[in-house]
Amino acid sequence: MSTDAHSATSGHASRSPKRVLVIGASGTVGSAVAEALTAAGHEVIAASRRSTPPVDLADPPTIERLFDAIEPVDAVVSCAASALPTPLTDPGFAESIGPKLHGQIELVVQAVEHLRDGGSITLTSGAIPDDMAGTAGGALVNAGLEAFVKAAVIDLPRGPRLNVVRPGWVAETLASLDMDEADGTPAAVVARSYVEAVDGRANGTTITP
Ligand SMILES: NC(=O)c1ccc[n+]([C@@H]2O[C@H](COP(=O)([O-])OP(=O)(O)OC[C@H]3O[C@@H](n4cnc5c(N)ncnc54)[C@H](OP(=O)(O)O)[C@@H]3O)[C@@H](O)[C@H]2O)c1
Repeated sequence: MSTDAHSATSGHASRSPKRVLVIGASGTVGSAVAEALTAAGHEVIAASRRSTPPVDLADPPTIERLFDAIEPVDAVVSCAASALPTPLTDPGFAESIGPKLHGQIELVVQAVEHLRDGGSITLTSGAIPDDMAGTAGGALVNAGLEAFVKAAVIDLPRGPRLNVVRPGWVAETLASLDMDEADGTPAAVVARSYVEAVDGRANGTTITP
């Protein structure tokens, strides 16, 4: 695992039990993150479009309703929504970047109002293989999120820590696509980066599992 230039502040700051909202907790990455956070002694509140209440990052009022429905949390982790490969000239191109880019930014804006003091927010970007068709949207989303996190920590109200995890191919995802899972990182290994983001001191960083 590595972090970017601001990583000097990363480390094991607090292992005290926390309430952690995990959006996308039923997914390949999110389920491993929920499991790892639970194993680290944290309480996980799992959410997605099919949870109760449901939350859809593409639909900001559902984010507000989710926060209104739960007690304040110490950390918010997002492993939800992908920018699916979409050709640049496809009419759905702009829409393809919405949930993961704008949705996670909207999540940050709303989360700062609902976090306990000293809280943290962890988003997900991703590493995209070179020369892969249809990935301009995903590349834009990932770079945008990483730049956003670095800049936004400066003016976030109430000063929660904010980081983003940049997974590459996840082994289980490759296996589900009948590709060689040896080319990916197991979800359980990727999940360690999210636990580090929740428990450590990193702020404004991109964490690469
Ligand atoms: N897996 C990989 O190889 C890989 C590589 C690089 C980056 N990533 C990134 O890691 C993140 C998680 O990927 P994954 O492979 O775990 O995805 P996944 O298995 O498809 O799971 C996605 C999770 O997010 C939820 N979700 C999807 N759209 C949502 C929305 N609009 N609002 C709220 N929840 C939503 C899903 O549940 P519901 O359907 O119930 O909403 C599910 O819990 C994504 O951002 C992805 O781009 C993954």
